[in-house]
Amino acid sequence: MTQDELFKVLVAHCKEYGFIFPSSEIYDGLAAVYDYGQMGVELKNNIKQYWWNAMTRLNENIVGIDSCIFMHPKIWEASGHVGAFNDPLIDNKDSKKRYRADVLIEDYLGKIEEKIEKEVAKGKKKFGDSFDEEQFRATNPNVLREKAKYEEVHNRFKAAEEASDFAEYRQIIIDCGIVCPISGTCNWTDVRQFNLMFSTSMGSTADGANTIYLRPETAQGIFVNYLNVQKTGRMKIPFGIAQIGKAFRNEIVARQFIFRMREFEQMEMQFFIKPGTELDWFAKWKETRMKWHVNIGMGAENYRFHDHEKLAHYANAATDVEFKFPFGFKELEGIHSRTNFDLGNHQKFSGKKITYFDPESGESYTPYVIETSIGVDRMVLAVLSHAYKEEALENGETRVVLSIPAPLAPIKAAVMPLVKNNEELTGLAQQIMNDLKFDFNCQYDEKDSIGKRYRRQDAIGTPFCITVDHDSLVDHCVTVRDRDTMQQERVPIAELRALIDKKVNLNNLLRNL
Ligand code: GAP
Repeated sequence: MTQDELFKVLVAHCKEYGFIFPSSEIYDGLAAVYDYGQMGVELKNNIKQYWWNAMTRLNENIVGIDSCIFMHPKIWEASGHVGAFNDPLIDNKDSKKRYRADVLIEDYLGKIEEKIEKEVAKGKKKFGDSFDEEQFRATNPNVLREKAKYEEVHNRFKAAEEASDFAEYRQIIIDCGIVCPISGTCNWTDVRQFNLMFSTSMGSTADGANTIYLRPETAQGIFVNYLNVQKTGRMKIPFGIAQIGKAFRNEIVARQFIFRMREFEQMEMQFFIKPGTELDWFAKWKETRMKWHVNIGMGAENYRFHDHEKLAHYANAATDVEFKFPFGFKELEGIHSRTNFDLGNHQKFSGKKITYFDPESGESYTPYVIETSIGVDRMVLAVLSHAYKEEALENGETRVVLSIPAPLAPIKAAVMPLVKNNEELTGLAQQIMNDLKFDFNCQYDEKDSIGKRYRRQDAIGTPFCITVDHDSLVDHCVTVRDRDTMQQERVPIAELRALIDKKVNLNNLLRNL
């Protein structure tokens, strides 16, 4: 199966097993908006808890808040979002479809990369064991031709991006012969800037503040509460404020399922520090966040940093933590050294003094900030895409299993009586369920054969299946089946809680950080 096919299968699986549904589906859906189903919400909550506890419980100097989506409109002027939170858009005059000009070029570059990889794969097949990939890449005429094309377009694109030269974006699109996928023509408009914020109106118009925005990031809610938290929490620099919440962006290229949505959730932490110490803290947070990711157990090789060459005007260092999604390495989290841009601007726009008095040095200053910002939905996608597996079994059948890291799995254990029409078995199974449900999210399942029930639980990633059989009534033991190894063992009912806890307790993950 190609990665493309695998991704389509994953999207269908997410719907079939209650993880993620297209929003408003009975009305044919709403583009780039998705709802979480009964399994998805549990997975999402577990991810949020892992992040929240890692930030606020493990660090005495980080506290959490929950600010509102609606905020004073001046906030978005101060933050620069009204003036500069734009995407470069281009329309095809024939199809009347709108695209992001930079994404059209990136896709074109991606296709060249694909061609190079196909050429290498062909070489591998042809030459077998004697294949020298490095030499092939350095000498094969087809690879060299495509590489040269890539370099030329890539360099022009980067220069245009650096200079915000949108006429050049259009020229690259024309020169590369990039056509609209709908009309197939190259009949493009000029490139225009399009603001990504959603706006709505609130209350009366008397105060002139009737147009308000749905926040495009949660970070500003932290900045405008900086003084409140610092004073009421008697926080001393360095300290952090964490927040999880919804953000909204009118994304034009909305695709790749929950990777890029118009309504999504962020987990952001702003760490306030003394000016001049920011690059040390930036390095520290890079390390800390990568550890958090790798600790989940999805393979260190599936993560990498992508340090930004072009920095936003307010940043003096920035990097992305990229994850290997089925469509390649893509941004999962951003870590930014934001200087004192945000606090400084809020000070200017609000007229309120936002400085910190350092009791030790006797100095006053506007703190600098290191930000860590991760999309909850992208984490969900990372976990699901890594977990989805189709395994060939010894009996010739195939099983679909989600090998979700056990502490994040939606259901931790399924309790099953061997047969459903035996009151003694169902009674004992219910009793076990009623006992375990206070510690773990469990599911009681008595329908269909045991084999079918195992498959159902594999498909939602349940680490343990517990079967109550006739012997259980006598020996007070049950059969516990492990999702990953499919091994079964006999376990005394009294030891079930400890056995499950060892594998699924989130604190075990947190202790390794
Ligand atoms: N406060 C900084 C900030 O918002 P960002 O790089 O624009 O930075 C941070 O966003 C993270 O939010 C991204 O790394 C990504 O995980 C997530 N994110 C951004 N836009 C998204 C979208 N349209 N859909 C889903 N997640 C998104």
